[in-house]
Amino acid sequence: MFAELEGKYSSYVDTFRVEGTLPEMMELKLLHTRNVVALARKIAKGEQFDERTARALEAAALLHDTGRYEQLKRFNTFRDADSVDHAVFSHDIVKEKGWLDGWEDASKILTAVLVHNCRDIPADEMDDITLACSKALRDADKLDIFNVLEDRLANTDWRNDNRAFWNLKIFSPPSIEVVEALMDSRAVDYQYIKCLADFVLVQVGWMISGLEYATSRKICLERGHLEFRRRFLRELTNESAVEAVLRKAEESL
Ligand SMILES: [Fe+2]
Repeated sequence: MFAELEGKYSSYVDTFRVEGTLPEMMELKLLHTRNVVALARKIAKGEQFDERTARALEAAALLHDTGRYEQLKRFNTFRDADSVDHAVFSHDIVKEKGWLDGWEDASKILTAVLVHNCRDIPADEMDDITLACSKALRDADKLDIFNVLEDRLANTDWRNDNRAFWNLKIFSPPSIEVVEALMDSRAVDYQYIKCLADFVLVQVGWMISGLEYATSRKICLERGHLEFRRRFLRELTNESAVEAVLRKAEESL
């Protein structure tokens, strides 16, 4: 079943190729998708998901960013605020194309796709499979986003050119609102993200309260994502509040 779904997905992605080549930003999304599928499988294994839940999760991971290609083509941006909610877009495309026709858990998979970027998920309204898929997909997505940041820092001249990070201020202490939210284990209101330290701290916040499964936290620790951010934040700022947030993350992983 998964191989067939993957075939449909690949054929769809192929329609965005220009003379055989995907635009670079789309290629990165395809790579992200592959990584999220691999991470989702690891989480399913580590958490001993039953076969049915693991199959549904694998499908949700493959499909979660389906709308990114059309979003970029149509709006030339991945910023949802300036275009469309890419999770809704992904959900609608998969549904309209009927890729999950014949899948027992089609509606559960579609729900996991739909909520993958929401601040909170309506856990009370979900059955066990939908809830497990939604949580594990969100974990897998975050784990690969940790890699995306690290790659971008390695491959851009971010010290001298802040366009790589949406023109955020580079060497600046974090916003007090961001630090306070993280110390209270609250979600950060994105309007307070004013500098690169804020942006990186939001990811540290995911380590405090955003990774649902022990397997996800273990992967995060093993891959050194917290250590990376500790070194990086120390380069950006010597604000002591940052150390307190880092300690909190260390205790949470
Ligand atoms: Fe996404």
